[in-house]
Amino acid sequence: MKGRNCSMERVEALIKKYQDTVVEHYHWLHAHPEVSGQEKETAAYIAAQLRKMGLEPTENVGGYGVTAVIKGRGPGKCVGLRADFDALPIQECTGLPFASQNPGVMHACGHDTHTAMLLGTAQVLMDLRDTFDGCVKLIFQPSEENSADSGAKKMIADGALENPHVDAIIGQHINPEKPVGTIGTRVGADSAASDRFFITVEGKSSHASQPQNGIDTIAVSAQIISALQTIVARNVAPLKSAVVTIGKISGGDRYNVLAGRVDMEGTCRNHDPAVRDMIEQRMESIIRGVAEGMGATYTFRYVRGYSPIMNDKDMIELLCATASEIIGEENIEIKPAPGLGGEDFSFFAEKVPGAFYRMGCHAEGTPIWPAHNEHMVVDPACFPVGMQIMTESALNYLAK
Ligand code: NI
Repeated sequence: MKGRNCSMERVEALIKKYQDTVVEHYHWLHAHPEVSGQEKETAAYIAAQLRKMGLEPTENVGGYGVTAVIKGRGPGKCVGLRADFDALPIQECTGLPFASQNPGVMHACGHDTHTAMLLGTAQVLMDLRDTFDGCVKLIFQPSEENSADSGAKKMIADGALENPHVDAIIGQHINPEKPVGTIGTRVGADSAASDRFFITVEGKSSHASQPQNGIDTIAVSAQIISALQTIVARNVAPLKSAVVTIGKISGGDRYNVLAGRVDMEGTCRNHDPAVRDMIEQRMESIIRGVAEGMGATYTFRYVRGYSPIMNDKDMIELLCATASEIIGEENIEIKPAPGLGGEDFSFFAEKVPGAFYRMGCHAEGTPIWPAHNEHMVVDPACFPVGMQIMTESALNYLAK
């Protein structure tokens, strides 16, 4: 890359220098997990570590979010590096010597490792700040696991991507099902939109023997449920994916009384913003058409959760070119299709070009436990890989 003033060897040497410190961060964070929205101690720890490096962190950004800016030697672009830091309400069963000290709370999604690696990356970039132009914005994000209260959304609303304006952003997530030294990513959608909806149908109850005097909301709901399934079958292109699921229904009081009201709840998943808009609109018009046609009234509330991550083409090219020099092209998987998980990095990537990748952290010869499992462990051997990809990608972006 043009304008690069420090060698990969120098970056590697610095990562080695700070490797033990990063493991210490990991052990502390892992032992002190806090659930989404309650990450007070974690945020204080992060801010204290940044201050030790000579940085001036901004705290309480959209909740317990922490940001800090590493200024290079001169003016230039600004690249954001993001790590999340909330834990899950799970009782840890790993038996690790630094296992959770908070009963019923565990870092079972590896957000402790994301944060430890970003603290290490910050230290490396501080040592290199006289070699690059522009700046790096460190974004430590709380509340990733609570789609009703996204930390990313709140940090953005509180200005995390401004002052200085962030031109592009990079984020990583561990993958306990893939070996250390591998990553997976793709251009475009890299996670699913996960939305929730609520439907209420109101009619008129009457004696079961006199249906002509009532409006049967169970009969109306049955038609609505069947008709909603035609959205995926008949309105979504066969090669795109989408789900419309009604997972909960309640109505009626007695076997011989027409139900005057039915409540339903469900979820929609998909990978394409146009499909997402279409599903919401089609749902409303089907519910309206069926309810009105059968003499009932309805309410429909559609609540958007996380959007799918839309990875930027140029940023993924930069990421993959950088990573192939570190782990080799053969260890980069370009995924043929996005997964159906949710991840609120999507809100950052909606605002500025973003690159998100999943990095293998499974230790060879050990059982594979997926994320969100009480046995899940991360092999710290992946830390230097993650730090190097983050550091090198940031330097290459700024030198572009
Ligand atoms: Ni996670």
